[in-house]
Amino acid sequence: MCGIIGIIGRDGQDIVSNILQGLEKLEYRGYDSAGIAVWKNESIHRVRAVGKLCNLQDKLKKTPINGEMGIGHTRWATHGKPTEENAHPMMTKDIALVHNGIIENYEVFKNELIRQGYQFTSQTDTEVAAFYLQAELDKGANPREAFRKMLCDMRGTYAFVAMFRSLPGILFCAKNKSPIAVGFGENMCVGSDASSISSCCDEITYLNDGEYAEISKDGSVFFDKFFNEIQKDRIKVTSDLVNSGKGTYDHYMLKEIMEQPSAIRKTIQANKISKDFLGGVSRILILACGTSYHAGLVARYWYEKYLKIPTIVEIASEYRYRCPVIEDNTLVLAITQSGETIDTLEAMEYVKKSNKTCKVAAIANVKNSAISRLADFVFYTEAGVEIGVASTKAFTAQLTVLALLAFCDRPDLMAQIMSLPSVCDETLELLSAEIDALAEELQEASSAIYLGRGNLYPIALEGALKLKEISYIHAEGLASGEMKHGPIALIDDKMPVICLCPSGKIFDKMFSNIQIAKARGQSIVVFTDEAGAVQFDCRTIVLPEIHEELAPILYSIPLQLLAYKVTVLKGEDVDKPRNLAKSVTVE
Ligand code: G6P
Repeated sequence: MCGIIGIIGRDGQDIVSNILQGLEKLEYRGYDSAGIAVWKNESIHRVRAVGKLCNLQDKLKKTPINGEMGIGHTRWATHGKPTEENAHPMMTKDIALVHNGIIENYEVFKNELIRQGYQFTSQTDTEVAAFYLQAELDKGANPREAFRKMLCDMRGTYAFVAMFRSLPGILFCAKNKSPIAVGFGENMCVGSDASSISSCCDEITYLNDGEYAEISKDGSVFFDKFFNEIQKDRIKVTSDLVNSGKGTYDHYMLKEIMEQPSAIRKTIQANKISKDFLGGVSRILILACGTSYHAGLVARYWYEKYLKIPTIVEIASEYRYRCPVIEDNTLVLAITQSGETIDTLEAMEYVKKSNKTCKVAAIANVKNSAISRLADFVFYTEAGVEIGVASTKAFTAQLTVLALLAFCDRPDLMAQIMSLPSVCDETLELLSAEIDALAEELQEASSAIYLGRGNLYPIALEGALKLKEISYIHAEGLASGEMKHGPIALIDDKMPVICLCPSGKIFDKMFSNIQIAKARGQSIVVFTDEAGAVQFDCRTIVLPEIHEELAPILYSIPLQLLAYKVTVLKGEDVDKPRNLAKSVTVE
């Protein structure tokens, strides 16, 4: 949530285009507004615009600025509406600053600074940090003293980058919970992720919570939370950290849907999981949010059935507030694409602080992310950088890792997992035209129901989430057996009901549930396989045969495509749906 960047150019070169390039890569973190501030000849110039980055780019064409050092921001609004006044960078006469996170005690300082005569122009928590620094400078502190004092006083979550009018070639940055990568190379740079600064540097290091850095081309200095100087290890910027663009696709989401066979293949190759991993484990606790939570719900079906280990799946944002009982010998699996979701991170920390004998593992897509660093053990999904806000390839890659653990002692099912990439490929080729036709009809709907049973119930939830989050058509995913206990009242001639019903042990029950829906509605579509299709006298979409345990992975794909195509037809922004952000670093 919110993307921040700062760049110091080599030999005084202009860095505006580098900052804009970086902001393009950070837009997935928020697009309520964007802004940039640059330093030149002891003055700072700023341009900000409401809405997506293209608005800022247009504005900069009309009123160009340049400078040899600068900072930029893409905003996901928390405090204050998405207006230009609330867009970052925040500025005072001597300082420009960008922030990702929430300063929880900002009101205390705001009141005091107003009393001292400082005039605020925004409703943001961030502006307090800028005026706090200004007030310290006005009292005679130097930038380092001011910045350190601010870090001691501000509570909450933050990634800050600040520049001072009096200080050429130096950026100050600090982190608590929100991510910061510092890059070394041609230019010196800092950004919310490695991808945003990858074109300016060859190596990066990640700040840990409580650390801060003074970045300069003459040598950056890093400090721990007690302001002792520390050395940081650097890692090479590799292609898996970098967003390689949309290629020939119109949208990232479509590219990412099409990449699933390869994401699954690479994930299988990278994760050899043996039964020993489960040694001593008597319970499994899965923590996750959003789409990742749905992956966890599927895993519960697998783990209790095949591993015979009691498994619970928790929405991470709820977990630590309900005083859960944590038992010894629990395997905690935190599932996350970004590796940054604060709710998941905090839930993991809650378990770690319990002093129970738990093994805390993460399933993460982003290497070296906060969650992967906190975990005792990490399984990486090899989906590659995912940019579309609606998660697709990361989800099926998560399911793949979860399946590799579930079936680690079942060679027959492992063989089925190996065949997944080719079956997914076949599905993508086979279904495109049929999904086009269904999307044409669905775009007119104001609401839709997704039905699933057993391990496909979570996929009904996920299919509904995909549709609503990008097309804005309201959708509900239901356990089909629950439909009769209330939601059936919603079914009429106009309500599309999308059913997931491959042949298998649960087919008959699901078949009956679909008949019940059919008796009340007109618009029933069943995703099934050849053996299942012959039994239906309503519209079916036939997928390749797959072992019923792996159906959740395969049946996700047409539902992602359906949501994508409906959204394109409705003319909505597929990759940047309103109000959402891909990395959620606020609670
Ligand atoms: C956001 C994203 C979702 C994602 C969820 C959890 O809401 O828009 O796509 O599923 O966060 O994110 P994580 O990175 O932890 O999987």
